[in-house]
Amino acid sequence: MKVIVLTDKEAIGQAAGDLICGLVSQKPDAVLGLATGSSPVPTYLRMAERHREGVSFQKVKTFNLDEYCGLPEAHENSYHTFMREQLFSHIDIQLENTHFLDGNCADEAAESERFSRTIEAAGGIDLQLLGIGSNGHIGFNEPAQAFTGEAFKVALTPSTIKDNSPNFIGSDIPMPRFAMTMGIGQILRAGRIILIATGEAKARAVKAMLEGEVTPQCPASVLQKHPDVTVYLNPAAAALLSDHPIE
Ligand code: F6R
Repeated sequence: MKVIVLTDKEAIGQAAGDLICGLVSQKPDAVLGLATGSSPVPTYLRMAERHREGVSFQKVKTFNLDEYCGLPEAHENSYHTFMREQLFSHIDIQLENTHFLDGNCADEAAESERFSRTIEAAGGIDLQLLGIGSNGHIGFNEPAQAFTGEAFKVALTPSTIKDNSPNFIGSDIPMPRFAMTMGIGQILRAGRIILIATGEAKARAVKAMLEGEVTPQCPASVLQKHPDVTVYLNPAAAALLSDHPIE
């Protein structure tokens, strides 16, 4: 895995945003896998900036990693809302080209199959953007006994509930305990992967991902098996690495 340590979140956002926009300029109908949470926000800001400078997302298709169960799509804390607010309303993407798992589906297996088929029909994901949980999760693939395959409904762990609960302060609906998430197998099929981690709360997970054994106890460690992963870190997230890569 290629590890790049940059001084701050803004520099990471610029580098990751430019990399994604470079792909979109080369391949205007690129298929992007997208993440929510705080890590990709500066990247989305940069993509919006590059759009104002002329990069078009008209033909781009997107697939989001995950969505909470039990939140209406239009809820202020849903990942649908997050993506509209942080990215989609700032670029010229066509909303019908943006795809999500339905966190309120009645039949999870059917929903998973629908999502897999839609990705396949789009030609597969060219580039997947990821964050990492403080427990090593990617998407909402929590530490487990085995690596997952396709999308599924997951029970969020106490650590994830603790990490994400602050976003639900003042919300009429409490932080959900379940989510629909892309599976690990699905994530690994992306042609290229970018993972962003900043802050000392991620340092242990980052070390386990890069220097630990490949184990479903640290789901991100499976990225060691992917041929094209770029990891962007700030110094705090890189602090525990034995081999200090600095750019
Ligand atoms: C979000 C997602 C999660 C987050 C991770 C880090 O769609 O799939 O894996 O990337 O929880 O979240 P932040 O960036 O808020 O620290």
